[in-house]
Amino acid sequence: MKICCIGSGYVGLVAGTCLADMGNDVICVDSNKGKIDNLKKGIIPIYEPGLKDMLERNARVRRITFTTNIKDGIQKSDVIFIGVGTPSDLNNCADISAIISVAESIGKYMNGYKVIVNKSTAPVGTLEKIGKVVKSFQKKAIRFDLASNPEFMREGEAIKDFTNPDRIVIGVQGEKAKKIMESIYNGISRTDKPIMFTDIRSAELIKYASNAMLATRISFMNELAQLCEKVGGDIKEIAKGTGLDSRIGPRFLQAGIGYGGSCFPKDVNALIQIMNENGIDAKILTAVNEVNEQQKRSLFEKIQILVPKMKNKKIAIWGLAFKPKTDDMRDAPSITLIKQLQEAGAQINAFDPEAMDNAKTIFRGIKYYDDPYSAVKNCDALVIVTEWNEFRDLDLKKVKRLLKCPNIVDGRNIYEPKDMKELGFHYLCVGR
Ligand code: UDX
Repeated sequence: MKICCIGSGYVGLVAGTCLADMGNDVICVDSNKGKIDNLKKGIIPIYEPGLKDMLERNARVRRITFTTNIKDGIQKSDVIFIGVGTPSDLNNCADISAIISVAESIGKYMNGYKVIVNKSTAPVGTLEKIGKVVKSFQKKAIRFDLASNPEFMREGEAIKDFTNPDRIVIGVQGEKAKKIMESIYNGISRTDKPIMFTDIRSAELIKYASNAMLATRISFMNELAQLCEKVGGDIKEIAKGTGLDSRIGPRFLQAGIGYGGSCFPKDVNALIQIMNENGIDAKILTAVNEVNEQQKRSLFEKIQILVPKMKNKKIAIWGLAFKPKTDDMRDAPSITLIKQLQEAGAQINAFDPEAMDNAKTIFRGIKYYDDPYSAVKNCDALVIVTEWNEFRDLDLKKVKRLLKCPNIVDGRNIYEPKDMKELGFHYLCVGR
């Protein structure tokens, strides 16, 4: 199948690369010339394990190519995937102007039947808008079909999630488009992974519903963690004990510093807006959001218990990215925390294995270190913000020797309170 992926950001690039790897011919389009020039040289704009190798492998045999020429991309393809950004606008709604502008180009340049697939997260009804715009920009009537194919990839696990998904959701009208979509995902659907065909509006809502449900689980556990801190009980045991119920399942029950990233905060807010616009209060999701904001601020209060006077104190931060295995700083809880610490007059020493370059564009007045040990030297406290695996297995005796005061606030519960006490740390974590 000849496929064009418009938008070579996170979704477009990973989807394009995986689709090429599954044997399709893929043209990736982006309006950013610098990005395309880099991609042609094999330089990828994001950190995603496995992506570079897969991209190089497919670029070598020209199964994936890169261009800024959207007309060329559209005309040479049977199927067009739209994977452009839908950032929050001032009202917390998803801004779909980039999608609409792509739809205009598709209408203008299409030269034969196409299936137009939206992969960007966008409010219910967007695909129908895309259809109207495409039609209105056509010089002569050319048939096309529409499909909504939401993406459930997690950053850091994107390749695995794309090639081995729990499900593939496709909202589509018409048998012809359905067959084409089926053939694209042929490799995956031959395994036991179901393709769920549904109507377009349901597909659009499934994406929001999934992210909002996962965010709800996290906020619920974070609120329970606050209760554990008051009445006793261990939130990790509670996650285990509830997760063993097969109706609940074990995943996305980890209490911590609050969810961040490019999807959960944005999608929860957007779904609240969609509900509000339709006269629904969105009581649950409003609370999910509020608990998350509270949770992001809660680590600062814990640090204050160990370091009551923050002015000119040195605080080490391990982990800046919103989660491990990514360099993504979007809506990272570290941003809220570091702002609070700096306002209180603390100096920050930071280390993150991947996100420091991105962090440098956000923070001022932070010192960055090349390894976790040098970041903690002479600090009054160490705060664990992102649960990178490499932090789990460090020499904690050495960390204690390097710290000025043996204070650790663990926002991700990566250590055992009992072990930390034995090692002589003042150790605070979340809900234990
Ligand atoms: C998410 C969805 O999982 C994915 O399906 C969708 O396509 C995009 O949004 P992503 O944002 O990459 O993926 O990360 P994810 O692993 O889902 O984590 C989101 C946030 O929740 C992170 O800040 C993470 O630290 C937090 N989280 C996750 C918890 O606090 N506790 C958990 O148990 C799980």
